Amino acid sequence: MEKKLKTCLTSIRGKTDFSPKVALILGSGLGDYADGIHIETTMDYTEIEGFPVSTVKGHKGRFVFGYVGEVPVVIMQGRVHYYEGYPMTDVVLPTRLMGLLGAKQLILTNAAGGINGTFCPGDFMMITDHIAVGVPSPLIGPNLDELGPRFPDMSEVYSTRIRTVIKEAASACQMNLKEGVYVQLTGPNYETPAEIRMCRSWGGDAVGMSTACEAMAARHMGMEIGGISCITNLAAGMSKQKLDHMEVQESADRVSKDFKRLITRIIET
Ligand code: HPA
Repeated sequence: MEKKLKTCLTSIRGKTDFSPKVALILGSGLGDYADGIHIETTMDYTEIEGFPVSTVKGHKGRFVFGYVGEVPVVIMQGRVHYYEGYPMTDVVLPTRLMGLLGAKQLILTNAAGGINGTFCPGDFMMITDHIAVGVPSPLIGPNLDELGPRFPDMSEVYSTRIRTVIKEAASACQMNLKEGVYVQLTGPNYETPAEIRMCRSWGGDAVGMSTACEAMAARHMGMEIGGISCITNLAAGMSKQKLDHMEVQESADRVSKDFKRLITRIIET
């Protein structure tokens, strides 16, 4: 196994033998979900030898191990982004670690800009597929054969089974769930209106700076994936408003109650 991955895994295993079934990555403004679950133990990223640590405001950096209902989960409260300057292999290292700790399912969440004209700020979008041609693949480099194949299939990154679970959960929570294709670009700048028109013509419904790379790494190692975007704003050029991170966080905060209900329902199912 890659040395850094092994070092981190050994470091975590020196502190806990918790065995999660489901892994959850929380996006911008959605991080406080982890504070409300039954927490078994937490681990700051800084405690883990060799671990890439996030620098973005509003991103707490720790793993939370605990239970949602009866389900043992590991939650990433704060993720690492490519725009921070880390190589892609570092960006997806936490995802791989959660897989190696035993999680077979991964629920990815993020804040995203709406490209689809029918979306409104505050909507949730179930990710049906992604476009990640704007960022380098995290699988570039020597293949980690013990994790997965050199040329992994990506024809069903977001599992049909989990998508059904997400839809049923939304319906049980009486929430109007949108669905669509997530486009990952590098950031950290927001897009230009022309870039958004390009993303739309590609078939994108929402745009953000994370998630697809993590999904690729998780799919590579055979994890079953679900994804939900919180549409925090209309993408560039779609409204008169200029984009800023505060708006993104405020929108995510506004719907965080609904988000918590939905995620809890999904994991319990
Ligand atoms: N673009 C990119 N990333 C984002 C956006 C956006 O409009 N909103 C939240 N994350």
